[in-house]
Amino acid sequence: MSFSDRILAWYQSHKRPLPWRETKNPYVIWLSEIILQQTRVEQGLPYFLRFVEEFPNVTNFARASEGRILRLWQGLGYYSRARNMHKASKLVLEEFSGDFPTQFQDLLRLPGVGEYTAAAISSFAANQPHAVLDGNVFRVLSRYFGIEEPINSTAGKKIFSQLADELLDRQHPGEYNQAIMDFGALQCKPKSPDCSVCPLLIDCEAYKTNRQDELPKKLKGKKSK
Ligand code: ADE
Repeated sequence: MSFSDRILAWYQSHKRPLPWRETKNPYVIWLSEIILQQTRVEQGLPYFLRFVEEFPNVTNFARASEGRILRLWQGLGYYSRARNMHKASKLVLEEFSGDFPTQFQDLLRLPGVGEYTAAAISSFAANQPHAVLDGNVFRVLSRYFGIEEPINSTAGKKIFSQLADELLDRQHPGEYNQAIMDFGALQCKPKSPDCSVCPLLIDCEAYKTNRQDELPKKLKGKKSK
């Protein structure tokens, strides 16, 4: 079985039932992805549910006062996320007639939406073939393939994004993206992963050479770009 098939097979029996996985609505997926950018799933979940209830669509969101949005955001931190969301929702009304975009390039125009979030929304909502690269994916790929290149070096960014793109399951990009993120969050954990139950164990370079705790590598104190 290929790497991607194994990740998908693992996901079938381990996936977390999360409400933003039950929808193809790009606005709802965008809400979840912005909330989860710097917030853990358990902490973000009640906020997500409240936002969807208060603002069922992007028009409601754009027409709310910024004060109301910031009050609902209270406790999540990084308030620039909430301010950018408000700006993004207005831009969707003005430039996309209230139709929340699902194309990668359109999504990148929204304040607060970078490559990761654009890949997530376009693949989850419209099955567009864009691979997500977040901390979970960097960890899984660096360990499985034994990649020593730092994830935040210029060379590293290129290696990882090319590899992520090659591995993406083109039949099921949305499902595969969710799967590899959950695999990183639940199985290939940062600290003390339980490799004895890992379906990728026999081909994992980090496991073979006992480097799970050393990978991924990251440059410290140096700005790349
Ligand atoms: N973290 C960021 N996006 C996520 C998603 N869609 N599901 C679970 N965790 C996530």
